[in-house]
Amino acid sequence: MATVSVLIPAAGSGVRLGRGPKAFVRVGGKTLLEWVLGAFAWADEIRVALPPNVAPPKAAANVSFVTGGGERQDSVARLLAGARGEVVLVHDAARPFVVPEVTDRLLETVALSGAAVPVVSVPDTLIEPEDGRYGPALERSRYALVQTPQAFFREVLAEAHQLARARGHYATDEAQLVKMLGYPVELVPGDRRMFKITYPEDLALAEALAASWRV
Ligand code: CTP
Ligand code: MG
Repeated sequence: MATVSVLIPAAGSGVRLGRGPKAFVRVGGKTLLEWVLGAFAWADEIRVALPPNVAPPKAAANVSFVTGGGERQDSVARLLAGARGEVVLVHDAARPFVVPEVTDRLLETVALSGAAVPVVSVPDTLIEPEDGRYGPALERSRYALVQTPQAFFREVLAEAHQLARARGHYATDEAQLVKMLGYPVELVPGDRRMFKITYPEDLALAEALAASWRV
């Protein structure tokens, strides 16, 4: 099997959560970062981007830390710069619940295609509000919500980042940058339990899920 570097952007401040740095918020007695480090303990290496002025926590020998950048993409660029794996898995520290079946699907698919991301369907009616009022409804079955981890051949992601930097282009995930290269990104089924903790009410959901998490 290919060697795998897991890259964890954890340098955000958690403005929408109203508490931070978010990676050090606790759920079920563990920080979000500890949840994620545990989920990827099998990887050849794990690289974590931390906010400036945050001391690296004690971690296993395969874990290393860098200082993150101003935007998520800058943090990932710094993580990528020192990564050695043939495959990289980029995963938000803000998603503590990593479903192993999804990771397995990603690793299988990336080995064949070089780029794979998990998606889930849109459960609600999806509209485009107009001036705060109900606007046109989008055909929700045509859309998908994109999660992490996102898996790439390291060289493909590095080239995508280089192009984005040259164009001054910023995106909210890696797959957009890889797509911009003209490289096809495969989709695999994600899992709604891999939601991103973003707003305060997400913590209540996370606590409930943590209490029964067994993987
Ligand atoms: N992230 C990062 N470097 C940044 C900004 C974000 O490494 N400059 C990371 C966050 O730590 C998080 C992931 O990217 O794990 C997804 O970002 P998000 O959910 O937006 O987290 P925050 O930026 O912390 O939250 P907010 O946008 O509400 O401030
Ligand atoms: Mg953010």
